[in-house]
Formats: sequence, C-alpha cells, structure tokens
Amino acid sequence: MANLSFLLPILALSFSSVFVAYASTIQDFCVTNPLSQGNSECKDPKLVEANDFFLSGLHIAGNTSNPAGSKVTPVFASQLPGLNTLGISLARVDIAPWGINPPHTHPRATEIFTVLEGTLEVGFITSNPENRHFWKVLQKGDVFVFPIGLIHYQRNIGYGHAVAIAALSSQNPGAITIGNAVFGATPDVASEVLVKAFQLDKNTVNYLQSKF
Ligand SMILES: *[C@@H]1O[C@H](CO)[C@@H](O)[C@H](O)[C@H]1NC(C)=O
Repeated sequence: MANLSFLLPILALSFSSVFVAYASTIQDFCVTNPLSQGNSECKDPKLVEANDFFLSGLHIAGNTSNPAGSKVTPVFASQLPGLNTLGISLARVDIAPWGINPPHTHPRATEIFTVLEGTLEVGFITSNPENRHFWKVLQKGDVFVFPIGLIHYQRNIGYGHAVAIAALSSQNPGAITIGNAVFGATPDVASEVLVKAFQLDKNTVNYLQSKF
C-alpha cells in the first residue's frame, strides 16, 4: 500500500479551518474582535459583555423616501458582533405603499420572512431553464420562505405602510440587487454585453447605467 503520510498535514489543515469557520464546535461564541482588522480572530472571551449580544432600535421605521420606496435595516454580524460564526441574522424591512424591495439574492442564506403590518406581494424565481415564478400576497402574520441563492422581491400593494421581519441563515448573508449589480457595477460591464444580454439598444443601456 502506498505511503499516505504526506496527506496528514493536509488533513490537519482542513480540520483546523473547519474549527475556525464553526467556532461553536469548540467554544460557546466568537464575538467579532473590533481590533482584528478583517481576520477571523474572536474577541477575548474574558472581555465579552452582554452588550456584544445586544442591539436596540428595531422598532424605528426605516426611511422609505427613496426611488424604490423601501428600506432594509440589517442586524448582521457587522451590526451585532455576538452573531459572528452563529449562522443566523435578521433584518427589518419597511416598504411604503406601492414601494418595492427590488429583485435581489442572498448568496449565503435562506430567508424566512413574516409580515408585521400591511400587505405585501412577494415572490422568487427558480434556476434555469424553468425559471418558475412562485408568488403570493401576504397579510399580517403570514410567513414565506425564499430559498438560498434565488432571486426574490417584495412589493407593497397599497394598504398602508408595510413592515416585515426577515430572518436569514447566515450572520453575513450578503445581498446582490440584480439591477444595481448588472447596471451599476464598478467598473462598468461593457455596454455591448448588456445590449445582447437584455436585448436593449445602446442608448437604453447607457440610460440604465446612469440610473444605477
Ligand atoms: C428620509 O430620506 C430623505 C431622502 O434622503 C431625506 O430628505 C429625509 O430628510 C429623510 N427623513 C428622515 C425623517 O430622516
């Protein structure tokens, strides 16, 4: 049998990275260390305090005076350091009458969404080639799920201000808003790409790029 001892360091390395990614397998928590610049170091547990697991202000409505008519107030690990490595987060979503939370995806999270106030049309679209559109009108108390990675949206269909809470299966779910990403990338995606991809003329593409 071949000597496989060369594999040992590789195995050891992959196990140690598993432990970094999921601190909960070896310790109770890994509060983001404000002094560690971008690396995954935990705050010294002896210095951790209740406020590291606390955030206030989610009763305050987001400002929906913007072109979409909506505002997402995130409670991710960057707002609440105690969430780090725990794989969960939430957001408050405010949507003015006829406003929208535009089509977007969370690359790292499934989202479970509940309406606290108002009436929202919500939907998501599945992968190619079917691109099935599942949608539903939600009233106060209704719950809907947006599976990880799929494009989804919400729209207030006009019965007053709407408030919802979205819970997400990542402390840092990420969000890619389709229009902003495609038409507002830095640097620009070549307009020839967008002309063919969206079957638009060049002036329309330039106009859309100026809007985002
Ligand atoms: C809401 O946002 C608009 C546009 O940015 C701004 O003019 C307005 O003052 C804001 N309102 C509040 C209450 O902050």
